[in-house]
Amino acid sequence: MPEIYEPQEDSYFFSEFLKENLNNKEATFLDIGCGSCILADTAKEKGLKYITCADINQNAVNLARCKGYKSINSDLFEDIDDKYDIICFNSPYLPEDNREPKESKTITTGGKKGDEIPLKFIKQAKEHLNAKGKIYLLISSITPMNSISKHNPKIVAKKKIFFEELLILELTR
Ligand SMILES: C[S@@+](CC[C@H](N)C(=O)[O-])C[C@H]1O[C@@H](n2cnc3c(N)ncnc32)[C@H](O)[C@@H]1O
Repeated sequence: MPEIYEPQEDSYFFSEFLKENLNNKEATFLDIGCGSCILADTAKEKGLKYITCADINQNAVNLARCKGYKSINSDLFEDIDDKYDIICFNSPYLPEDNREPKESKTITTGGKKGDEIPLKFIKQAKEHLNAKGKIYLLISSITPMNSISKHNPKIVAKKKIFFEELLILELTR
């Protein structure tokens, strides 16, 4: 089973963004691809009470459960029934690299071109979003934007790191 993703620059950037932007303590919050639960932990620090974690990696789900979160082992929304006010995903977004081991691919690779998982996520997340809810998705300037742009994302935060720029997109229904 894959290792849990150790928080990196992308995780800390997303966490800082949430610290500034999560203001409704009554909002239901879903951390998809929770990994170490850094985003769920940020939501908890901000006083949110209704937090759910999900990941395709059972190790991450087990950790989330140990931390006391409602936890679901799911490939994106396949095993998720509820709707939420806020849905976050620090998505795998890199194009496929055949030299990369299968285990770390789950964490980093967003599909052949890099946008397949983000796109699948956007389509499914809209079905699981309450009216007036918000989706926050982290991708990179490396991720192809042609198809993602059709969903009218708003870029709400940017950060340059090394050879790429991290982007947080906000989407609504
Ligand atoms: C870049 S890591 C982010 C982890 C953590 N949220 C953070 O910000 O540090 C991506 C996470 O998404 C999970 N993941 C990848 N594909 C997934 C899928 N199809 N459904 C659910 N989770 C997925 C991985 O297991 C990993 O935990």
